[in-house]
Amino acid sequence: MITLLFGLRSMKITNLLRCYFFLFLVFFISLPLVSHSQFLNFRIAKAFTALQALKRAITSDPNGLTSNWVGPNVCNYTGVFCAAAPDDDPHHAALTVAGVDLNHRDLEGTLPDEIGLLSDLALLHLNSNRFHGALPLSLGSLHRLFELDLSNNRFDGGFPMVVLDLPSLRFLDLRFNRFCGDVPPCLFDRKLDALFLNNNHFTFSIPDNFGHSPASVIVLANNQISGCLPAGLGDMADTLRELVILNAGIRACVPPEIGRLRRLRVLDLSYNHLIGPLPATIAAMAELEQLDVAHNKLSGAIPSGICNLPRLKNFTYAYNFFTGEPPHCLRIRSHDDRKNCIPSRRDQRPPMECATFLSKPRFCHDGCIASQPPPHPWQ
Ligand SMILES: *[C@@H]1O[C@H](CO)[C@@H](O)[C@H](O)[C@H]1NC(C)=O
Ligand SMILES: *[C@@H]1O[C@H](CO)[C@@H](O)[C@H](O)[C@H]1NC(C)=O
Repeated sequence: MITLLFGLRSMKITNLLRCYFFLFLVFFISLPLVSHSQFLNFRIAKAFTALQALKRAITSDPNGLTSNWVGPNVCNYTGVFCAAAPDDDPHHAALTVAGVDLNHRDLEGTLPDEIGLLSDLALLHLNSNRFHGALPLSLGSLHRLFELDLSNNRFDGGFPMVVLDLPSLRFLDLRFNRFCGDVPPCLFDRKLDALFLNNNHFTFSIPDNFGHSPASVIVLANNQISGCLPAGLGDMADTLRELVILNAGIRACVPPEIGRLRRLRVLDLSYNHLIGPLPATIAAMAELEQLDVAHNKLSGAIPSGICNLPRLKNFTYAYNFFTGEPPHCLRIRSHDDRKNCIPSRRDQRPPMECATFLSKPRFCHDGCIASQPPPHPWQ
């Protein structure tokens, strides 16, 4: 086993070395195109190679964004931002490319391997374009990359493992792409502050280490998620402000430990197949402003304490099988209790549908659907 792991690891390193070698080869071959002395410094010369390769990899540029990407002064290219190199002498630090922001440009193309030459890059924003294909392995050499926004493009393939190699990454936005397959559990051990995976074709189960994530915002909506809602999600109590897992096909129960998320402002679990009760522990989320559990199969009564939450201004629980609702829930500024089984309320499900659903016992255990009642029902 150990040799196998070691073998895998050294294979990865060999690949990486090959990748670096390739980049340097490309770099030195392309340098003669513009004479070396024209560049401000070595970092800018490398950036020139990277940006020219990116320009060549862009097959459609309807607004002519890259039309001024000519000549050695890359700091003047539209969408390219330079700053003093953070690892240089602060008094006369060399200028280097710190950001590339091509948001909303409708560019079509791929990301070339040479992007790895932008080794001081802190921000890469490619939001709302038509980039496709996979991410180049060389992206893993951007050890200062802090924000990676690839949202609303056509990237595909499996989860881009290369983002796991980025030691400075804090903001990862992959939403609205065509990524598919599993999401590696170690993603949730990374020191990310924001994680957007929504609107892709990921199929995964939320791992037990989900709660290790220090992120303040996690959006997993509109993917295909199987398995349970792990009780360990309560471990994000100090940091998580927004959790959105809507329309993800989850068949699970809401674990009572969710109530530990005392800093949460937005919780959206709507359009899933959640069963069981809505935990009364949610009443401990003192900062909750928006709670949406609509379009599930939840039952029991709405816990009174939830409707007393001081900041709650939008509580939506329509299209479930709830059977009771404290009257003060109706005083929340925006509420929706339609299509439940609440006696005396208008616009509920037909009594027969309620009776049929509620006659079948359902059990929960640790955020999972259980086949039997839990061993200690009083807990
Ligand atoms: C960058 O562009 C500005 C305005 O277009 C120009 O004044 C400046 O000289 C350019 N910088 C360099 C180094 O070419
Ligand atoms: C309340 O939340 C629901 C769904 O989460 C949303 O559709 C609705 O617009 C919100 N209402 C207000 C007044 O914000």
